[in-house]
Amino acid sequence: MYSRALESGKKIFAVAPMMDWTDKHCRYFHRQLTKKSLLYTEMVVAEAVIHGDRNRLLGFNETEHPVAIQIGGSDPGKLGQAAEIGAGFGYDEVNLNVGCPSDRVQSGTFGACLMREPELVGNCVAAMKDAVSVPVTVKCRIGVDEQDPEIALSAISENVFGSGADAIWVHARIAWLDGLSPKENRDVPPLDYEIVYRLKEKFPCRFIGINGGVESLNQAVEHLRYVDGVMLGRAAYRNPALLAGVDALLSGGSDRQIIVPEFEKVIEAMAEYAQEHVEGGGRLSQVTRHMTGLFSGTRGARMYRQILSTRTSRPDANANVLWDAFACIDLNGNKEGLNAA
Ligand SMILES: Cc1cc2nc3c(=O)[nH]c(=O)nc-3n(C[C@H](O)[C@H](O)[C@H](O)COP(=O)(O)O)c2cc1C
Repeated sequence: MYSRALESGKKIFAVAPMMDWTDKHCRYFHRQLTKKSLLYTEMVVAEAVIHGDRNRLLGFNETEHPVAIQIGGSDPGKLGQAAEIGAGFGYDEVNLNVGCPSDRVQSGTFGACLMREPELVGNCVAAMKDAVSVPVTVKCRIGVDEQDPEIALSAISENVFGSGADAIWVHARIAWLDGLSPKENRDVPPLDYEIVYRLKEKFPCRFIGINGGVESLNQAVEHLRYVDGVMLGRAAYRNPALLAGVDALLSGGSDRQIIVPEFEKVIEAMAEYAQEHVEGGGRLSQVTRHMTGLFSGTRGARMYRQILSTRTSRPDANANVLWDAFACIDLNGNKEGLNAA
């Protein structure tokens, strides 16, 4: 996928890994809106992949392809094992988390603290590459704490590409591990896109993707002038309708017109999926909680959200609730903000 993208000059658009957000239901929903985007799982710790309930942790729907599993850890042996298990489940890519500023970084087990250990990260990538034939990629920051980002990002990139990584996705801000919460670390440290553009100049034959603070497809297109891929997190989750414009963008559409999703088809697919989930013993809200932002900017959206937040957690809730919520939407109303912004 990455080598083909580099050879053909085709760009990759990805929806970021997000804990508690990009679970399999969310990814199934996003896939109804875009066929071409690369979707990422939430981060799964290598030990959990090896010792946990694999079907629960790793199971996904075939329609989610292309889908990448993100793994957290710092033990090359365990990461190799976890990567092999992930690839065996059918994931199209295995990604190593070198960007998450979670509480557990204090114990040095995974995430952004690995920015300080580029050689170890290189060893982790090498072990993962040895274990699988699908692409192995890294998602990182530009540095942590007092690191000089220019030096830290170069060191990580040299090591991971030296170990055969197929791509690097860079969240273009430092993580301040000492003092900021994970949430603050997604907003407070300033974004530095230029450093990622320079990384691409330094590694012209390698796949470099950018992430962080991209709010719209127009902004994504701007970044794609300098790098090979763009990854959206919160904007895609909160305003999923923007994903409907991605396939046209990747097919080379030059005019950025607003592409409105085929809402009725999306609701139909999701109602069918949700009903199956409910009949299998799941809760409707586990599916619909990811859909609350679908009609942002459209008349009736508030009532739609209200129905989803109140009626989907009732014990007898079934997928008809989705149709009831959809009935509140005035599709001829204001469509501003759907996907161009
Ligand atoms: C709720 C939430 C959970 C996240 N979980 C992960 C994660 O599991 N792994 C990871 O690499 N990044 C995680 N991130 C960071 C995102 O992948 C992304 O790097 C960050 O949100 C910046 O991109 P954005 O500005 O487009 O949202 C998370 C972000 C959010 C909002």
